[in-house]
Amino acid sequence: MLVRGVSVVGAASGVMGAGSVLAQAVAPAAPSKVKVGLMLPYSGTYAKLGETIENGMRMALAEKGGKLAGREVEWVKLNDESDPAKADANARRLVQQDKVDVIVGTVHSGVQMAIQKVVAESKTLCLIPNAGVHAVTRNACLPNVFRTSFTMAQPTVALGQAMVERKARRAVWVTWDYPAGADSLEGFREGYTKAGGTIVKELKVPFPSTNFKAVLQEIEQLKPDAVACFFAGEGGIKFMKDYEAAGLRHRIPLYGSGFLTEGVLSAAGTSSEGIVTTLHYSNVLTTLRNGEFRYTYSRSFKSEPDVYAVQGYDTGLLLRQGLEAVQGDMGKRDQLYGALESAVIDSPRGKWRMGKAHNPVQDIYLRAVSNGENRVIGVAAKALEDSGSGCRLA
Ligand code: PHB
Repeated sequence: MLVRGVSVVGAASGVMGAGSVLAQAVAPAAPSKVKVGLMLPYSGTYAKLGETIENGMRMALAEKGGKLAGREVEWVKLNDESDPAKADANARRLVQQDKVDVIVGTVHSGVQMAIQKVVAESKTLCLIPNAGVHAVTRNACLPNVFRTSFTMAQPTVALGQAMVERKARRAVWVTWDYPAGADSLEGFREGYTKAGGTIVKELKVPFPSTNFKAVLQEIEQLKPDAVACFFAGEGGIKFMKDYEAAGLRHRIPLYGSGFLTEGVLSAAGTSSEGIVTTLHYSNVLTTLRNGEFRYTYSRSFKSEPDVYAVQGYDTGLLLRQGLEAVQGDMGKRDQLYGALESAVIDSPRGKWRMGKAHNPVQDIYLRAVSNGENRVIGVAAKALEDSGSGCRLA
């Protein structure tokens, strides 16, 4: 038997020895460590995103001496390679072999779908620091899964109006062929058509291919008013560069959900200049909170934070709030989930609250790249909440 980490095997083994064994059992023991499983990409097109999320998360815990509600933390890192084929085995390893208390994961929406199946069975707490796929907080939602990032439709639903206002009435949509691309398109379709725009063609590239030749040729032939897209990470840089190299940058304005231009502006160079995007963060937000966050992050990690760093940081803040509410006792599930559900996060992106279907309710900024910065040029949507449709938690 284990009582707060102290073995009391033999406590009932005779009157003579019972006193000393019991004394041992009630002696205050150091609480066991909280095992945090980081299931993130550390290689491939999203490698930098995984690393940045981890940095942000560690920074939030460092503010409390690296602890969660006074408990030490043991980190278990797993490179999920953004590979859905390996995702089920990877998530099971964290749950069954490493016996983590919480999975923080992941970036790639296809991998997230596999994690969802595993945590549905094991009931492990799962905090999603990026992947925006709709199903995990809509029809497949779970009481033990919370998202600290966004849903794919949140940025794109807010993009259409801005495009139509800029006279982009006929647009081509292009993305990777995987769940994050499909759900981004769903949001874009809704917002753009409602604003009066027409999608003349929806184009797809297999994930994570960066061979954009065929789609760029098709865009050239279709001559739309604008192109809207979802790409991110290394693939996003390549798309912007190829778009410029194909001579399209000055002829057909490029729009996107803001992941396209996050954390990549120096690598993208002139190819990103002028691109208008929508996202729940910008590095130039002038709040004190953002300033302090950026100062500490850049000193700690010798690099500039981006939206992924903020999401990782907010994941740490949320986990801290949850564990503090139950004094570190993760066995108090109802209380823990209640605390996570009613959380308000004082984030560098601006304050957000957890919505009914376990997604952030947050502002979406309209941004334009100018001199290597994602300048804020407006607020595209205020306190935007995902529909959470089909989620019975709601
Ligand atoms: C996703 O797969 O959900 C995803 C990946 C990268 C992003 C955003 C969403 O920047």
